[in-house]
Formats: sequence, structure tokens, C-alpha cells
Amino acid sequence: MNRKMNCLSPSILSADFSRLGEQVRELDEAGAQYVHIDVMDGMFVPSISFGMPVIQSIRACSDRIFDVHLMIEEPTRYIDDFAEAGADLITVHAESCKHLDRAVEAIKQKGILAGVALNPATPLSAIEYILTRVDMVLIMTVNPGFGGQKLIPYTLKKVRDLKRKIDAENLKIDIEVDGGITLENVTEVMDAGANIIVAGSAVFQGDISENTRMFLDILKS
Ligand code: DX5
Ligand code: ZN
Repeated sequence: MNRKMNCLSPSILSADFSRLGEQVRELDEAGAQYVHIDVMDGMFVPSISFGMPVIQSIRACSDRIFDVHLMIEEPTRYIDDFAEAGADLITVHAESCKHLDRAVEAIKQKGILAGVALNPATPLSAIEYILTRVDMVLIMTVNPGFGGQKLIPYTLKKVRDLKRKIDAENLKIDIEVDGGITLENVTEVMDAGANIIVAGSAVFQGDISENTRMFLDILKS
């Protein structure tokens, strides 16, 4: 069985934007390995968040892996811009790309990691043929668009099915989960097979360093 290191990717969607740089530094100092950056266009999802200039300006605050989750229509149009703004990993939604293969190849062409995300109701079969080309699959555990929602339990079955497939084919692919992850349910989510854990409100509500360290303790055990 493939054992990958468990990593925390705090979602800055729940940050205090008036102190964003400071809070990104705090995550870094507390040991979070990734920074999860949710880009929303008001079309693929109802909300609008932020884009390249914000990523570019926080790049100076952290050397951690910038994990850019694009919740935008036809993201291929912007891959170069996000890579140049400082992304280390770009994830596109299978549902948002007319030509998913082209999107993944455009990311790889930039020399960075490529991820594909699936909404809760999208089956794993949507990425069957592209699996060997991606570095990470993001299984959405809520419907994308907002922080602070509750995890949808059936999505963990998809994580288990994906983990089984990855192990059976001996692939080296990370499984990320995003939405509704808390200190209470993170163990169950890791047991299902996820190794990159996104957490927004559970990290940013209260003491950021303390919450980060509590997550990392569980992730290590
Ligand atoms: C949801 C975003 C998530 C969100 C997670 O559309 O992709 O990254 O910020 O927030 P929590 O952990 O609060 O559910
Ligand atoms: Zn996200």
C-alpha cells in the first residue's frame, strides 16, 4: 500500500483579509506544509474571492506549497497567469473544463504540480483516463463556493474508492479533501485515504497557530 505523508493545507478563504500576509506567515511558522488558495469567479460557484494580485503579494510571506484551487469556468485561460503569480500546484475542476486534458497539460507545461477536483456528485469515472497524468485529486467534501459548510458523508466513500484504485494501480497521486474538515472528523477522513487536508474555518476561527498545531499533531499520529 502506498503511504504518503499527511499534510495540512489551511484555506485562506477564512482568513482576516486585512491581515492576510501576517496570517500566512503565522501558518508557515506553525508548520502547515501548504497554503490553500480558493479562487472563485462568481460563475462556476456563486462567490467571488480573489485572483492573481493577491497570490503574488502573499508569495513573499511564505515558501510553503501554494495550492491554488481554481473554482472558475474554463480555467485553461488563466493557467499561465496563476503559475506566474506563484502557484506551486494548480487544481482545476473536471466540471469546469470543456477540455480537461488540455487544462492538465497546460499546468504541467509550466513545470508545476497538476490537480483535478471533483464536486460531490461527480463520479470518479470522470477522471479515469487522465489519472496517470495528475499529481493530485481533490475530492470536494462539500459543494464548492463557501467556507464553513458541513462535510457530506457520502463523499468519503469516493475517497475510499479512489484510494483503492490508486493503490491497485501503484500510482503516486495525492488525495486532497476540502470542505467541512474539523479536528473532530479529520481522523475519519484520513482513514478513508486522504493525505492532504484542507481546513478553513477550523484553522482560522480562534487561535490560528494553536489550531494548526492541533491539526498537525493528529496528522502525524
Ligand atoms: C469551498 C472551498 C474550501 C473552503 C473550506 O468552496 O474550496 O477550500 O474554504 O472551508 P471550510 O474548511 O471552512 O469548510
Ligand atoms: Zn478549496
